[in-house]
Amino acid sequence: MGVRFRGWGIAVPDRIVTNDELSLTLDTSDQWITERTGIRERRVGGSAMSLGVIAGRDAIADSGMELSDIDFLVLATTTPDRLCPATAPMIANELGLTCPAMDVNAACSGFMYAVRTAYGLLETGNKRVLVIGAEHLSRWVDWSDRNMAVLLGDGAGAAVLEYDPDGNDLLSFHLGADGSAADLLTCEHGGFFQMDGKEVFRRAVRVVVDSAEKAMASAGITADDLSLVIPHQANIRIIQAATQRLGIEMERTVITLDRYGNTSSASIPLAFYDARENGRVKSGDYALLTGFGAGMTWASAIVKWSR
Ligand code: UT7
Repeated sequence: MGVRFRGWGIAVPDRIVTNDELSLTLDTSDQWITERTGIRERRVGGSAMSLGVIAGRDAIADSGMELSDIDFLVLATTTPDRLCPATAPMIANELGLTCPAMDVNAACSGFMYAVRTAYGLLETGNKRVLVIGAEHLSRWVDWSDRNMAVLLGDGAGAAVLEYDPDGNDLLSFHLGADGSAADLLTCEHGGFFQMDGKEVFRRAVRVVVDSAEKAMASAGITADDLSLVIPHQANIRIIQAATQRLGIEMERTVITLDRYGNTSSASIPLAFYDARENGRVKSGDYALLTGFGAGMTWASAIVKWSR
């Protein structure tokens, strides 16, 4: 069996917060943020539901399908609108979907965990799954804490995945989790995001390289075969360090963090969309999609674009 990507959509809030704007209230600077992270601005606003609805609607339209074609919705989010109920049923209701709908929380690996979940659903009888990554991280940021405030942004991205008995876009996965590192990046109930940035950085490079190598090996390809790397957008230096170890030049890597910051489970679909808009997604090409985040969790997949 196989699974095809059929359509994509994104949503970002209109409000742009630049590094200079943050420097007005925080002891930071555009130079520090740009040099240490690659981030120049981020979008702020909306909610996981409102952004997820727009991205989901666009992905269904892009796929050319009807609402009634979708038979499962998986939402990846670290920042659901409410602890209970899950945000996915509310998005489904707004979209006019009546199918099952659930949230998945794997932090910044969330979109790839949701794609892996969708793959399993399609292997076992579902026909078309809408996968959304949607985040309202700014709600859980202490805007007086320069450690986190400069990094995060809001946004959403979505994809429609369809069962195809005759072909396959998703060649392999490698996912992992290490709860012994849970305290490195947290947000307690009623609190704000907090992180041991240095240690997350160190581990992120290690797990991205390891999971990417395992995903490539199980797809039977090498780094030389990859036309594109679509990494989670946390820090340009993490992406540079990981791709350098994998032997992949930055020219083959998609970067959107300069405009959106770290949008957690929205970052990979936002980056895919940007690559497609810029003509970088070509039929027959291999791509590595790879994420890491709180948990810690990590997830890589090798994709061969069919269109
Ligand atoms: O999505 C997955 C989760 N997140 C990540 O993957 C993020 C992983 N970590 C990182 O991206 C980086 O560790 C950070 C961007 C968070 C920090 O960069 P760094 O190069 O590790 O900086 P640092 O924490 O070692 O701080 C260097 C200096 C310190 O000052 P001193 O001790 O050298 O005087 C900090 O106090 O920079 C200072 N600093 C800042 N200065 C201006 C820390 N944050 C800021 C800031 N503006 N926002």
